[in-house]
Amino acid sequence: MLYSFLLAIFMFLFIFVYFIKLFLFKFPKKFHFPGSHVLITGGSSGIGRSLAEQAFKLGANVTLLARDVEKLAETQKYLLEHSKTNKKNTVQYFSVDISRNYDEVNDIIKQAESKLGPVDVLINSAGFSVAGSLEDLHVDQFKKLMDLNYLGSVHCTKAVIGQMKARRRGRIVLISSQAGQVGLYGYSAYSGSKFALRGFAESLQMEVLPYNVHVCLAFPPDTKTPGYDEEMKNKPLETKLISESSGLHDSSDVAKKIIQGIVDGTFSIYIGLEGFFMNHLTAGFSPTTNLTDTFIQVFSMGLLRMVSVIYLSTFNKIVRNCAVNKKLL
Ligand SMILES: *[C@@H]1O[C@H](CO)[C@@H](O)[C@H](O)[C@H]1NC(C)=O
Ligand SMILES: *[C@@H]1O[C@H](CO)[C@@H](O)[C@H](O)[C@H]1NC(C)=O
Repeated sequence: MLYSFLLAIFMFLFIFVYFIKLFLFKFPKKFHFPGSHVLITGGSSGIGRSLAEQAFKLGANVTLLARDVEKLAETQKYLLEHSKTNKKNTVQYFSVDISRNYDEVNDIIKQAESKLGPVDVLINSAGFSVAGSLEDLHVDQFKKLMDLNYLGSVHCTKAVIGQMKARRRGRIVLISSQAGQVGLYGYSAYSGSKFALRGFAESLQMEVLPYNVHVCLAFPPDTKTPGYDEEMKNKPLETKLISESSGLHDSSDVAKKIIQGIVDGTFSIYIGLEGFFMNHLTAGFSPTTNLTDTFIQVFSMGLLRMVSVIYLSTFNKIVRNCAVNKKLL
């Protein structure tokens, strides 16, 4: 009885793997950094800066885009001085507000490409976060988040996608957030802009897959960055209590996982244990690029849903308790 049960399971697994390999999977080829052109928005601070450092150390020529010229110049100097392993490569930067105007962004990226060749990897790391209840947030803040976190990425991606398709080579990296997988108290504006990236990423991947261009969508947890420190200043207590459980991660660790995802062409890049849990729970209809991950998803989603319901109820309790303490209830 047990024997035939196990046999049935093994047969099922075998058919599943075979089916996926045969019909669904086109494994991305590994990406090699040496000599490539990596363009990073928001490359002068936070996760973007860590990504710039690691890509440069791996032998890429790097373009940094950000607004603040001083920070850009400082980052360029830092990269050149701290990477003794790399003497042949170039770091250039351009000051631009990517959220404003597509033509302007397109011009700058064309300039960057005229010096270092077509962009092989676009990393959309520029972004910011604001937390607050809907009543406390200004409509302007919703608009600013959408302009930078979402449209900024759209502008840069549109500027490089044509040449990537033509060359049958490229990686588009979008930096969402764990708040782009689950909506929490205080993130009505931020989560909106980060969920939007997922819709963009999934659609784009289907468009560009035949041209060997791969989209990588990263879901970092709270990460120790200047942007995080800024966000903490006005973070509601509810949001702090809820997101405490996930801990604070180091930007170089987060960058390392993203770099690995770029090499592998992973569609959905997660960090840490909560990242693993949320990635598999929310995989939904997202592209499959990793057989192990797909396998785990097929067999764990129901169970993970149960765990999420328990988490949800503790989060709801936190929110309710805070309202009671503020004498709102
Ligand atoms: C990019 O980097 C490689 C070394 O990795 C170098 O040989 C090449 O000249 C660089 N390209 C440009 C345009 O600077
Ligand atoms: C697939 O994901 C697993 C972790 O879930 C990782 O260890 C492995 O290296 C990945 N494989 C590829 C080819 O990306």
